[in-house]
Amino acid sequence: MKVLITGATGLIGHQLTELLLKDNHEVNYLTTSPLKIKNTNNYNGFYWNPQESKIDDNCIHGVDAIIHLAGASISKRWTKAYKQELIESRVLSANLLFSLLKKTPNHVKHFISASGTAIYPDSYSNIYEEQSTQIDTTFLGHVVVKWEESADQFKLLNIPVTKLRTGVVFSEKGGALLEMIKPIKMYVGSGFGSGKQIQSWIHLQDIANLYYFVIQNKSEGIINAVAPNCISNQELTIAIAKHLKRPLFLPNIPQWFMKLILGEMHILLFNNKKILPKRATQLNFQFQFPTIEQALNNIIK
Ligand SMILES: NC(=O)c1ccc[n+]([C@@H]2O[C@H](COP(=O)([O-])OP(=O)(O)OC[C@H]3O[C@@H](n4cnc5c(N)ncnc54)[C@H](OP(=O)(O)O)[C@@H]3O)[C@@H](O)[C@H]2O)c1
Repeated sequence: MKVLITGATGLIGHQLTELLLKDNHEVNYLTTSPLKIKNTNNYNGFYWNPQESKIDDNCIHGVDAIIHLAGASISKRWTKAYKQELIESRVLSANLLFSLLKKTPNHVKHFISASGTAIYPDSYSNIYEEQSTQIDTTFLGHVVVKWEESADQFKLLNIPVTKLRTGVVFSEKGGALLEMIKPIKMYVGSGFGSGKQIQSWIHLQDIANLYYFVIQNKSEGIINAVAPNCISNQELTIAIAKHLKRPLFLPNIPQWFMKLILGEMHILLFNNKKILPKRATQLNFQFQFPTIEQALNNIIK
C-alpha cells in the first residue's frame, strides 16, 4: 500500500511513518519545509505551500490512501493572526489536496483526517461518544468544525472519509505531558483550578496504531481517538508525581493566573470533557496503553 501523509514530520506523523515503513508500505509525504524533503526507495518527500496553493503533483502517483495530519500547533499563543493560521493550515491544505484529486487521475480510496476532541463542549455530566451531536461554540470548537468540513468534501469525489477526534497525545518524544512533567520534576508541580476537569488522552503508540488500523480496516466516519480511561487533572498530576517520586505541596494554580500568562489558550488546561472511544472498542481495536498507569510506566523511565 502507498500512503500520502501530510504533517508526516510531526509527532504523530513520525510514529505512523515508522509503523508503515516497518510493514513494507510506501510513504509519500508533503512538507512545507524543503529542508525536510528526503527521497529513498519507499519514503519520498514532496513540497507544498497551502497558503500559496502550491503542491508537487507527483505526490499523488500510485497513492491508495491519504492521511491529513498537517496543522499549525495549538500550543502557541493565540493572537488574531495565529488563530487564522490554526484554521487555514488545516483547511487550505485539505482544499489543496481536494483540488489536486479533482484534476489529476488517481486511485485514492480513503481520506483520513486528524480532528480534535475540542469539538465536544465542556461538561461535567455528558459522556461523549461518536454519535454525540453537541458542538463546542468556543474558538477551538469552531476550528474543529471547519477542519472536519474540509475533510468531508472528499466524499464528493466518492472517497470514504474518516475523522479521528484525537485527545491529548502523551509521549516521551514531545507534546503536553512533557510540559506537565517538567515542573513536577523540579518540585514545583501542581494541578490547575479545581483539578476536577476531565482530560481525554491517548498514548502516541496507540494513536499511530489507530491510524494504521483505520487504513487496514477501511473504517469510515468519526472515531474518538482517546484511551478508554480518561482522568481528572488532579489524578493525572498525582500519578505523574508518584512516577517521578516527587512530593506535591503547592496549591493548584487558579484559572485567572494561567489566563494572565497564556492568554486565551489557557483554556487547554481547563477543558473538561469525558470522551469514550466507543467505535474503536466496537471495531475491536486493541489499546496498548488503556490506563494512565500503563502509559506513564512506558513514558517515564
Ligand atoms: N499531539 C496532540 O496532542 C494532538 C491532539 C489532538 C489533535 N492533534 C492533531 O493531529 C495532527 C498531528 O499532530 P502532531 O502532534 O503530530 O502535530 P505536530 O507535531 O505539531 O506536527 C504537525 C505538522 O504539520 C505541519 N505544519 C505545521 N504548521 C503548518 C502550517 N502552517 N501549514 C501546513 N502544515 C503545517 C508540519 O509539517 P511540515 O513542517 O513538514 O510542513 C508539522 O510537522 C495535528 O493536526 C494536530 O492538531 C494532535
